[in-house]
Amino acid sequence: MAAVTTLARVDVPGDKSISHRALLFAALATGDSRITGILESADVQSTAGALRALGVDVPSLAAEVSVTGVGLRGLRPADGPLDCGNSGTSTRLLAGIVAASPFETVFVGDASLSARPMRRVAAPLEAMGAVVTLAAGGTLPMRIRGGALRPVRWVSEVASAQVKSAVLLAGLVAGVEVSVAEPAPSRDHTERFLRALGASLDDAHGVTLRPTAALRAFSLAVPRDPSSAAFFAALAALGGSPGVELPGVLASRTRDGFFRALRAMGAAVESDAPVATEAGEFVTTWRIERGAGGLRGLTVDDRQVAAMIDELPLLACVGAHAAGETRITGAAELRVKESDRIAVTVANLRAVGARAGELPDGLWVDGRDGPLRGRVVTHGDHRIAMAFAILGARPGNAIEIDDPACVSVSYPGFWSTLARVRA
Ligand code: S3P
Repeated sequence: MAAVTTLARVDVPGDKSISHRALLFAALATGDSRITGILESADVQSTAGALRALGVDVPSLAAEVSVTGVGLRGLRPADGPLDCGNSGTSTRLLAGIVAASPFETVFVGDASLSARPMRRVAAPLEAMGAVVTLAAGGTLPMRIRGGALRPVRWVSEVASAQVKSAVLLAGLVAGVEVSVAEPAPSRDHTERFLRALGASLDDAHGVTLRPTAALRAFSLAVPRDPSSAAFFAALAALGGSPGVELPGVLASRTRDGFFRALRAMGAAVESDAPVATEAGEFVTTWRIERGAGGLRGLTVDDRQVAAMIDELPLLACVGAHAAGETRITGAAELRVKESDRIAVTVANLRAVGARAGELPDGLWVDGRDGPLRGRVVTHGDHRIAMAFAILGARPGNAIEIDDPACVSVSYPGFWSTLARVRA
């Protein structure tokens, strides 16, 4: 690894998953919470707006945000539908909260969110006693009549932190014991946050939340987002920048799979010892450079996908310049993200000249040295736009993105940072 001074420092914004949870837990806590470094993006605005509609005084998102909690049972009915925009996390986590609140709430969203599956969250909430109505395809609009709920032991068919969190939040607000088991461990931010705020959890078999009287207010510096950091790590690995240093990034075994994959592909990837922060999480500094021997293709299966689920389109883009084949399986969940990320990634890899194909639960791409050029259709999906922008920043490549503005969902400053860092 070269001396640190040769690396470009990139301060990526706050973690999206933790930013949503920070607002939700600040709203449900007793007392005043203070959040610094929250992600100021469209998705987090959706959570903030929904909480305002439910009677919580959430200020405009800024470098420092203070929220006075209304307590676990202090939410008020909204005057109209909660518009969650593009945000699945806002919808599914709030669904759990309002399912235990004694009034009716309706969720709506943009075209992408309105096509995403909500049965997975409706089913456990119905099992607890909430009345949930969905559109014919199991999608939004979702109407939830909340109230007193029963305990549940839910076995989820998908590894989904959003489903797991919805059940935990429903149990929290209802004051009943809930447990969730899932096929592979999904991100555990809800559990860590709850524990840090005084809730009693047990994770012997899946996760169990015991009845909790109240959450304490907190002060949190939101760790930086590893899913945003991944773009600049990939840029360095592809030789599109001299090498990057990414400080203050959330360090979590449930989220760092992409960095481990880059190392396995031959990039030079180093990190500092993780440092503990509030909310039960850790942060680290990542340093990434192009490896001496170039990149080689990688095979990723269901044992690895959960810890890099949002980075898989980016991994496929890196694979387009890694010797041999990169093959991803066990990732059928990608079909129900902000777009069908298997179909959209493969179509765009082909559009820029790569050899790639779809699998029912993943994709393959053959790596090549030669340039990739063409136009990418994002379908409004922020992660597709950024993954292909990074591919396009490799020297020799020229890739046009049809909808650059869609990055505002998770990373509003992405384009200016890319312009500064690229070689
Ligand atoms: C998230 C969970 C993941 C992830 C999404 C954020 C969260 O979705 O893809 O970007 O904050 O809980 P699933 O729970 O549907 O896998």
